[in-house]
Amino acid sequence: MWHILKKLLSNYTNKLMTRQKIIIDCDPGIDDMLAIRYALRSPKLEVVGFSVVSGNVADYKGVNNLKEILYQENRLELPIHIGRGRPLNKFFRDAEDTHGQYGLGYFSDYHQLDKAVAPESASEFLLAHADCTILALGPLTNVADSYLLNPILAKSFKIISMGGNLYEQGNMSEFSEYNYWVDPESAKLVLNHLDVTMVGLDVTRKLKFYPEDVVDETDLEILRFYFAFHQKYENFYGAVINDPLVVDYLLYPQDYTSQKVKLDVLTEEGEYRGQTIVSQDNDYRLNQALVAVSDINKIKARIKKQVLN
Ligand code: RIB
Ligand code: CA
Repeated sequence: MWHILKKLLSNYTNKLMTRQKIIIDCDPGIDDMLAIRYALRSPKLEVVGFSVVSGNVADYKGVNNLKEILYQENRLELPIHIGRGRPLNKFFRDAEDTHGQYGLGYFSDYHQLDKAVAPESASEFLLAHADCTILALGPLTNVADSYLLNPILAKSFKIISMGGNLYEQGNMSEFSEYNYWVDPESAKLVLNHLDVTMVGLDVTRKLKFYPEDVVDETDLEILRFYFAFHQKYENFYGAVINDPLVVDYLLYPQDYTSQKVKLDVLTEEGEYRGQTIVSQDNDYRLNQALVAVSDINKIKARIKKQVLN
C-alpha cells in the first residue's frame, strides 16, 4: 500500500514541477510587455526564448523594448531572435500611433544593455524548439517563415495566436484585427496549415484596464499613451489589453469557450484585407477560436495581480 501511495505522490509532485515550455513571438508593444511579464512570472511556465516580429513597431525597436523588459525582470539571459522584419507580401505598417514612437508609450529611459540578438533566425529558433508551445503575440510572419523553411516539422507546432476576430468588430478596420491585417498572407498560411488556437478580439475586447488599475509610475507613463489612443478611437479612457489573454488561456483553459472552426484570412488589398473568415473548403485545417470567457473580472484580477502590482 505504502509503495502505491509513494508512487502516486511522486507522480503528482513531478506533474506539479513540470513547467510547460514556451516560446514567445512578439512585437513589443505595450500589451506584449504585460503578456511577457505574465509568462515570466508564472511558476507553471518555462520561457525558452523569444522571437521578435515587426508589428506595433519595427523589429529593431521591438528588440530594444524586449531587452528593457527582460532587464526589468532580471531575465536578460534569455535569447532574442529576429526574422525577415517585414510582412511576406505587403508593405510594413507599424502601430506607433497606438504604442508610441518607440513602442512603450511615453517611456524613453532605456538602459544601455550589452545583449546581442542570437545568430539563429526566428524561424530557425522556432523549428529548433518545435516541442515548445508558441505564444504568437504579433503578426504571424516568423511562424509562416518557419513553415516555409520546414513544412513537415512546422506541422508539429502548437500555436496560440493573438489575432483575428470572428464576431467582434476589427480594430484596424471594421472587418480586420491589426496582427492579421499587417501580414495577411502569413496569417492565411499559418491558419490554413498549422495547429492554431486563435485568441481574437472576440475575447480580448472584454479585457479593459483603466488608470486606477495602474500603481507603478513607469507603468502609468507607458499605459497613458495607450489610454489616450483608446479615448480618441474607442471613446473610453482605458485600454483593451489583448496579449496577456494568450498566457491566461494557456494557464487556465477551463475559463474559456472555444469553437472548432476552419479559419482563413482574406489577403486582397481593400476594406476586407486581413479579415478572418470561416472556410468551408476541405483543404483548410480545423483550428479553434476562443469565443467566450467564463468571468472576465476574475481573469482581469489575476492578470492585474501578476503584472501591474
Ligand atoms: O490587435 C491587437 C494586437 O496587435 C496586439 O497583439 C497588439 O500588441 C498588436 O500586436
Ligand atoms: Ca502584440
